[in-house]
Amino acid sequence: MSKLPKEPPASEITPPALYLRRRELLKNAALFAGTASALGGGLVWLTGGEAGVADAGAPGGEAAPLASAPPPPAGAPPLLGTSAASARTPFVTDEARTDYEAIVSYNNFYELGLSKSEPARNAGRLRLRPWAVACEGELKKPEVIDLDTLLRWFPLEERVYRMRCVEAWSMVIPWLGFPLAPLLRRLEPTSRARYVQFTTLLDPEQLPGQRSDVLDWPYVEGLRLDEAMHPLTMLAVGLYGKSLLGQNGAPIRLVVPWKYGFKGGKSIVRIQLTERQPRTTWSQATPDEYGFYANVNPAVAHPRWSQATERRIGELRRRPTLPFNGYAEEVAGLYAGMDLRESF
Ligand code: MTE
Repeated sequence: MSKLPKEPPASEITPPALYLRRRELLKNAALFAGTASALGGGLVWLTGGEAGVADAGAPGGEAAPLASAPPPPAGAPPLLGTSAASARTPFVTDEARTDYEAIVSYNNFYELGLSKSEPARNAGRLRLRPWAVACEGELKKPEVIDLDTLLRWFPLEERVYRMRCVEAWSMVIPWLGFPLAPLLRRLEPTSRARYVQFTTLLDPEQLPGQRSDVLDWPYVEGLRLDEAMHPLTMLAVGLYGKSLLGQNGAPIRLVVPWKYGFKGGKSIVRIQLTERQPRTTWSQATPDEYGFYANVNPAVAHPRWSQATERRIGELRRRPTLPFNGYAEEVAGLYAGMDLRESF
């Protein structure tokens, strides 16, 4: 076990999409007699599958499927009222930004398709207005807030964050949004509130992937309250100065840059404060592989691949993955005294 190759070949890395599609196919074919792990890594009969070939390449270090990606969607809608959008914050990395075209064409949004390119193709189904976010649970002032009201309450900031996917690829994204903390403060968490759960829209008509039971819908994610209140945690409504497109989680999504990308729930309709640790989609789907915390940690391998390095989309060479995705100085203190192998 300790002899993991430094850079496993792409064929050894099964992105969750392909892995789940395997699971689903196996289930459907009533072949799912044992545990998934008993199947081992190589189901050759599926490798020609729609989701597999192009997508499996990127994490493994082969050319990302950007050459074959669709052209940038024409005229992403301008964001109204973004005069404050150019305001800089301390949270801006000077690393090269990933191309807009890549950010909007290489996506994980299983409700819009399991491959990286499907979400962009299917995103047009999402109706972005009217949109409201129900803020409820352990709050003194629960409220269903219309998105445009939210946008009036909080000035937008541009924050250029690294995003590290658990599949071992990464991007640098100039998000447009606002920190979550002021919203939570305004709603006044009760003394019992300890966690925050984020829920994605549930509507199989707009999100056709929800017609399959590949995951337990709606997609839910969660944070501890102190993580949610951390100044780095934000709700994004745009990127590169434009409104978010459906494939990136329009009209509003969570961004938590020190955690694996799957913590960033997309197209959020509910923010619920809870006393107990909430259920989260991935930790429920495959608890051995994805934990509640999901802090980027190069020292803790995913059971099926190393997390020590990553491939920045648009670059050829792999680079070392940094603890907490390079945000250790800001966030490591949140986990003082915790065993980060245990709480992965
Ligand atoms: N949110 C929802 N609702 N559904 C998803 O499938 N995928 C997650 C996260 N948020 C996902 C989601 C994963 S695995 C990643 S890496 C990021 O979204 C990808 O965000 P991006 O496509 O905007 O880069």
